[in-house]
Amino acid sequence: CGIVGYVGPRPSQDILLAGLARLEYRGYDSAGIAVIDGDGTLGMRKKAGKLSMLRDSLAESALPDGSTGIGHTRWATHGGPTDGNAHPHLADDDKLALIHNGIIENFAELRDELLADGVSFRSETDTEVAAALLGRQYRENGGDLQLAFRGVVNRLEGAFTLLAMHQDHPGLVVGARRNSPLVIGLGEGENFLGSDVAAFVEHTRKALAIGQDQIVSITPEAVTVTDFAGTPVEAEPFDVSWDAAAAEKGGWSSFMAKEVAEQPEAVAKTILGRVHEGQVVIPELDGLDDLFTGINRIIITACGTASYAALVGKYAIEQWARVAVDVELAHEFRYRDPVIGTDTLVVSISQSGETMDTLMAVKYARERGARTLSICNTQGATIPRESDAVVYTHAGPEVAVASTKAFSAQITALLLLGLHMGRVRGTVEDASADVAELQALPEKIAKVLSSEQDHVEQLASWMADTRSVLFLGRHVGFPIALEGALKLKEISYIHAEGFAAGELKHGPIALIEPGQPVFVLLPSPRHSALIHSKVVSNIQEIRARGARVIVVAEEGDVAVLPFADEVIRIPLAGAMFEPLLSVVPLQIFAMALATAKGLDVDQPRNLAKSVTVE
Ligand code: G6P
Repeated sequence: CGIVGYVGPRPSQDILLAGLARLEYRGYDSAGIAVIDGDGTLGMRKKAGKLSMLRDSLAESALPDGSTGIGHTRWATHGGPTDGNAHPHLADDDKLALIHNGIIENFAELRDELLADGVSFRSETDTEVAAALLGRQYRENGGDLQLAFRGVVNRLEGAFTLLAMHQDHPGLVVGARRNSPLVIGLGEGENFLGSDVAAFVEHTRKALAIGQDQIVSITPEAVTVTDFAGTPVEAEPFDVSWDAAAAEKGGWSSFMAKEVAEQPEAVAKTILGRVHEGQVVIPELDGLDDLFTGINRIIITACGTASYAALVGKYAIEQWARVAVDVELAHEFRYRDPVIGTDTLVVSISQSGETMDTLMAVKYARERGARTLSICNTQGATIPRESDAVVYTHAGPEVAVASTKAFSAQITALLLLGLHMGRVRGTVEDASADVAELQALPEKIAKVLSSEQDHVEQLASWMADTRSVLFLGRHVGFPIALEGALKLKEISYIHAEGFAAGELKHGPIALIEPGQPVFVLLPSPRHSALIHSKVVSNIQEIRARGARVIVVAEEGDVAVLPFADEVIRIPLAGAMFEPLLSVVPLQIFAMALATAKGLDVDQPRNLAKSVTVE
């Protein structure tokens, strides 16, 4: 969910709505705001559906404006996406408003307690329980909002970010976080709160990170941070490097189109400053060689697209650094009894740095004594703060729900990490050829974009009625097959599956019937004539059964021409680098197909970009 709060001299509604628009990628099944107006009355409006529904409602009948406000976009957990379940939730005779992100695990017990007290509820949410509890604490504490709020957070179990305000305290917003994100934006005579810096980046680029289990109060002039016991703590200031314009659509038809096109830049920026005299040297890892030498095993953990980047990382790190790498979905890793300890390095990958499943996996790994390193795209996010080390990807803000440039930047970071680790471990002596491959990537990605975009879009328009698409790959092409299928599922709602090409004959080939479209990622014959010939055989096997075969192959590879219905060309690249080129046409394909079906590519149904609940 997306959260924004404002106190200052300006009318808050536009600030809240603009902040919510930037955060809408975090959830868009309902939205709401509450404002304390000039007369000291609290007004609230909330609507199911995208943010535009709330805007329309406010345009139809305005809410009196005021300079203290909170806003929320929701991704439903407890209770479906209805007006009533949307946030804010009110209490204390509608004088108090509260918004929440996360899951309050002991909400049933608290609800029973409040029901017994005579409180009645208007929604099915766990959030309203927190609001009602705050209302009760407020009365019991003689109208001291901060004290009451502290009482509430100490009674909640689970993960939460909460913001609240009361009409008797205009100019004050209180907030708290436990395992869920919240950052402070520092303005001149005004202050902000947000789930991430996107909420306020157009107003200020000075921010404060709040730690776990901390409470914050903002007024126009002051910011106070304490722990849950009320003891003041020092918050960590940081400057936001994203500029507001980077998070705008500009002239593009969608954020996703813009972000696909930004991949050369995302990769280039991720490499920048990390190559030194023909070697990869990641400055953030300076002095941390023991992270890589004192281990005998690496586990990479992530969810969704990031977990496919992890799979590419496995191939590269094992080859270069000669250490065993396993990839495990974060939500599986923590719920079994994995063999990890001080000789294990757990690498987590997360664009947002807030994915709850991944965060919990990192915490779990630390508790078990493992070292932790995160690859993250968002400064000040929770996962890097919980890790021993962080390698940031520099993809810039990614707004479309389906990840594209963040994925490319994640693979780039993993390739850098593999070469860095290989140098430290003494398994890579001369990295110059690989470094040259890395540095050539941005230009090659740009070439795929310029030479294949129209072709792939045309293909997608022919296939707009397709109900199922399969993707096959081998070696590092396998994770790309998985990612190609995921992109299609996410944004065009088409059944899609990715397979390891070698697995075909062990089952999936039964799916092949005449006309079934299959994308095949054909690795260059220069990397391995054997792997290449195996994939060519796979192509023949499916072709013989009537599949419609679309091959992604290197320029000049003619071996495939007799068996392919369509060939999409990518420039020559080293084995580990090919995924960054072959994924591009698959992204364009998914986007074009979704567009042909008239779908919203940036905000696909049921999904949220940053899933901050487990
Ligand atoms: C969600 C998104 C996916 C994303 C995954 C991991 O499920 O819908 O697109 O890949 O989270 O996100 P992260 O921010 O941790 O990379």
